[in-house]
Amino acid sequence: MTRLVRPDLRYHSSWAEAVREFGDTAMHGSGLWEIDRGDLAPATLERHVSGLLAAAADVPLDAEIVPCTYFWIVDEDDRFVGYLALRHRLNERLLEEGGHIGYAVRPTRRREGHATAALRLALDESRELGLDRVLVTCDQDNDGSRRTIETCGGVLEDQRGVKRRYWIDLTG
Ligand SMILES: CC(C)(COP(=O)(O)OP(=O)(O)OC[C@H]1O[C@@H](n2cnc3c(N)ncnc32)[C@H](O)[C@@H]1OP(=O)(O)O)[C@@H](O)C(=O)NCCC(=O)NCCS
Repeated sequence: MTRLVRPDLRYHSSWAEAVREFGDTAMHGSGLWEIDRGDLAPATLERHVSGLLAAAADVPLDAEIVPCTYFWIVDEDDRFVGYLALRHRLNERLLEEGGHIGYAVRPTRRREGHATAALRLALDESRELGLDRVLVTCDQDNDGSRRTIETCGGVLEDQRGVKRRYWIDLTG
């Protein structure tokens, strides 16, 4: 069963394997923009984890970075399989293209239903935050993400450039 957990050093080994596997591809929802893939030591992860946990703290409304709860997607054996970021509110850029929720599943664990299950769980977390709808976006050619969003109830508002923008209602 897929679960969402908060980032934790105890996932170091499966996390490091996954990061190697992502290679140079984007780790959406990871919050790790400047990661040195040559340095995946436990001490490095420990630093990342404290940064990721701190990102959920509230910041002034006009701050450029919005508060974000980072989750890791883990499998039934409690191994890291992916990332999910839940932004607590939207700024202009997120409203235009980033949305509230971003995610990525490590390449060798795709098409097992992890993204769909993780997004469903993230909707419960969004309700807990008090949101009554969330914006989730994907590139027009990203079939996996599009199906994930649509399965979780995404209603297409529009497409801006290559970004398809979906709202998911949380009040029902
Ligand atoms: C998009 C992504 C998160 C999907 O993760 P996943 O765990 O493979 O997704 P799921 O297994 O839950 O599959 C969801 C649906 O998409 C379909 N799907 C998954 N990958 C697909 C692909 N490459 N092509 C077509 N359909 C695909 C699945 O068959 C499933 O469809 P169904 O519900 O109709 O059976 C994953 O491919 C990924 O991490 N991609 C790179 C990062 C990324 O694009 N993140 C999203 C940013 S918007």
